[in-house]
Amino acid sequence: MRWIQALLLSSVLLLESVTALKYEVSGTRKGVPIPKEQIKFAPYQFGRSKNNSPGLVPPATRKKRANPISSSANWCGAVNHTPTTNKIKSIHSFWQVPGCTKRTGHTYPQAAAVWTGIDGNSWPSALLQSGTVCKIDTATSATRHEAWWQWVPDTAFTITTMPLAVGDWIEVTINTTSDTAATIKFDNVDQDEQVIITVTSGPTLARKDADWVVERPYYGSSLAGFAKFDTTWFEDAYAVRTTGANLGILGATQYQIPSLCNSTEYDNLNAVSWSL
Ligand SMILES: *[C@@H]1O[C@H](CO)[C@@H](O)[C@H](O)[C@H]1NC(C)=O
Ligand SMILES: *[C@@H]1O[C@H](CO)[C@@H](O)[C@H](O)[C@H]1NC(C)=O
Repeated sequence: MRWIQALLLSSVLLLESVTALKYEVSGTRKGVPIPKEQIKFAPYQFGRSKNNSPGLVPPATRKKRANPISSSANWCGAVNHTPTTNKIKSIHSFWQVPGCTKRTGHTYPQAAAVWTGIDGNSWPSALLQSGTVCKIDTATSATRHEAWWQWVPDTAFTITTMPLAVGDWIEVTINTTSDTAATIKFDNVDQDEQVIITVTSGPTLARKDADWVVERPYYGSSLAGFAKFDTTWFEDAYAVRTTGANLGILGATQYQIPSLCNSTEYDNLNAVSWSL
């Protein structure tokens, strides 16, 4: 695996302190183990892509609740916090791969990434995250959907072998075993394919931020154009903590990117991000 600085998905990158990640992979396809050599990653990057038409019907509007709202340059979603005396052990969410369309007036390439992860908000020096991204190609305007994972400040990887179509239900679970070790499970529930990545040497997490986010990613050092995305529900959005109740959506901060997207909560397990 090459370690190059490709597109990084976080707002909080510290490029100078890249560590050597050590990880193992396994996976199943329709319940059958996938030989390791058939699970492939590539450095995350924009590039030529095949067409994948949008068309997901947004779910019905649900009522608004009362979480505080905050603005961000690139995050649109719910971020909740736990004290470091009661760390996050794991984070979980389902969502459906949203269809994406070009946003008039934004530069190319355009992208919108959906992910769940730990830290990167009140703990800016590391962020462990996995999700999906739609990317609209500079040359052809074709839209591509990809699965990816990243332990910031290390680079992002596309799981190039993971099938992904608009509307597929995705389940991401990230279990930490320490501040520097974790297991990421990316499961395409609809296509019955899952990949498990076990990282043993990640950048140090605080495990105090729980994130369910649609992101305007960076392209190099600037923000990419932000594709319009179908309304995205984070279902069963919870973080398991060392003690006591799980951390959910209630009391989270709802981030919005002014005039581009917003987010709101539905209940303690469900939140929604809207493209404007
Ligand atoms: C994460 O932890 C939960 C609870 O212990 C377990 O059921 C699940 O299989 C774990 N997932 C991974 C990917 O390790
Ligand atoms: C977010 O935008 C959607 C679509 O325009 C709108 O229906 C919704 O009320 C907005 N929600 C918030 C919390 O601003």
